[in-house]
Amino acid sequence: MVNNDSNWAKDAAGLPGPASFANIGNAHNSISQMLWPERVLVYSSVFGLRPKRCLEIGTFQGGSALVIVAALDDVGEGKLICVDPFPKVTPENWAKISHRATMIQAMSPEALGLAETAAGGKFDWALIDGGHDYDSLVRDLEGTMPVLENKAYILFHDAHYIDVERGLNDMYYKHRELTDLGMLSMPRVADAGNPGIYWGGIRVARFDRRS
Ligand SMILES: C[S@@+](CC[C@H](N)C(=O)[O-])C[C@H]1O[C@@H](n2cnc3c(N)ncnc32)[C@H](O)[C@@H]1O
Repeated sequence: MVNNDSNWAKDAAGLPGPASFANIGNAHNSISQMLWPERVLVYSSVFGLRPKRCLEIGTFQGGSALVIVAALDDVGEGKLICVDPFPKVTPENWAKISHRATMIQAMSPEALGLAETAAGGKFDWALIDGGHDYDSLVRDLEGTMPVLENKAYILFHDAHYIDVERGLNDMYYKHRELTDLGMLSMPRVADAGNPGIYWGGIRVARFDRRS
C-alpha cells in the first residue's frame, strides 16, 4: 500500500519523504516478528541504501516484508523476492505488498537461483531470517553470496541467538568479501525456556566481491 501523504516535503536532495514509514507501526504489530528498533533499522537501511533488488530468506507472516516494501514504496522503485517453504502471509497482507513482492515457496539455499531469475538480476540487499541453527545460517549465507551484486548489504535477524552469532563470526573469518558492520540493533529477548539464550538483534554485513 503506497502512502501518498503529501505532508512530507522533499528534502534538499529533492527526495520524497518517508510517507509509508507510518505503515510499519500499528498495522503490522500483530504479525511482526521484529522488535521496534529492528523494524526501524530494516526500513532505514532500505530507504537509505535504495536497493534495486531485495532478497528475504524467511518471510513467515510477512512482518518484515511489509516493512521492506513500505521503504521501497517511499523510494519509488525496487522489488522484493521472498523465499520461504511455508509462508503464512494472509491474502489481505499480501495485497499490500504484491505490487513489489514475489513469493518463491521453496527452501533456501536451493531456491536462490530461482529467486535471482525472478528478480531479473543479482541482489544488492538481503535479509537472512530463515532457519536459525548454525548450519542453516552458514548454508543461507554461503548460498546467498553468489546471487549478490558485486556490492551489497546483508542483514541478519536474531543475531543475538548463539548459533547465529557463532555462524556469523566464523563466516566473517572465512570470507574476506564480508565486512562486519556490527550489531546495529541491540535489544534482545530472553528465551523463556532456556536461561542465558537470547533472540532478536540485527547485525549487518557489507559484501564486496573480490575478483
Ligand atoms: C522467524 S520466521 C521469519 C520472520 C519474518 N522475517 C518477519 O520478521 O516477519 C522464519 C521463517 O523462515 C522460514 N524458513 C525456515 N527454513 C527456511 C529455509 N531453508 N529457506 C527459507 N525459509 C526458511 C520458516 O518457514 C519461517 O516462516
